[in-house]
Amino acid sequence: MQSRRALSPDAKGPSRSPPADRRQHESTDTDLKDRHSRMASYLEIADDSEGHDLSLFCVPKHYEEDLDSVIIPNGLIKDRTERLARDIVRDMGGQHIVALCVLKGGYKFFADLMDYIKTLNQNSDKSVPLTVDFIRLKSYSNDQSTNCVKVIGGDELSALTGKNVLIVEDIVETGKTMETLLNLLNECHPKMVKVVSLLVKRTPRSSGYRPDYIGFEVPDKFLVGYALDYNEYFRDLSVSVCPVEWGSYAITLYADRLLASHWFPRTKSI
Ligand code: IMP
Ligand code: MG
Repeated sequence: MQSRRALSPDAKGPSRSPPADRRQHESTDTDLKDRHSRMASYLEIADDSEGHDLSLFCVPKHYEEDLDSVIIPNGLIKDRTERLARDIVRDMGGQHIVALCVLKGGYKFFADLMDYIKTLNQNSDKSVPLTVDFIRLKSYSNDQSTNCVKVIGGDELSALTGKNVLIVEDIVETGKTMETLLNLLNECHPKMVKVVSLLVKRTPRSSGYRPDYIGFEVPDKFLVGYALDYNEYFRDLSVSVCPVEWGSYAITLYADRLLASHWFPRTKSI
């Protein structure tokens, strides 16, 4: 697992020589802060990551046979989410934020992120007024992303006109879902829109879209758990992986506190 800071194309490296005077020092500090705010940082889960031994963790009985290794322990998800909350409050602080949860997959990450933002609000001089909204989108059929992204429920987007909106998503794969949502939202003229996604998949199918805040960059596999599902299964875990093979799927689960993998038949019922 590695941390990554993706520099924007115009970002320059830090100055190696000490500042000549105080004015220069101040502008170097400002440049550095600007540069940090333009960086998209994330934790990278390598393609060859084997994860952790499942027997070291507690797994729900009904999924026990479908798991064999843990990739992202729940504690790591929580720690990373805490830092995302801090970055968001730093950038959007002082303004009213409407946090828009993309259901159903985003609900667990959303709940944890909101808790961390609330904790920051309670314990600092600066606080962010926070309200919540929900939208339900569907773009997946079984384990395949489709070109058709549908809004199938939730609050009216027109309520977001003039607001600072933070979209909270579980995972960005091709980027089509988020691009569609952003287009819909822009028609309602919000004041500002930022996107935070717990996961971004490294995939050649990506449109190139990157969220403003990213928790983890993960391999090109199908993930379940931590509210991410496979046909509604595995939401009661924490996140997972499932490449399609003839009639069966290799599943890797980030359960409530883990990610594991195992082969199981397409028709499996739980
Ligand atoms: P995209 O439009 O291809 O970026 O797909 C985004 C949406 O598809 C996410 O919001 C998820 O709901 C779903 N999705 C994409 N990859 C996965 C996955 O690995 N597991 C579960 N759901 C996924
Ligand atoms: Mg989603």
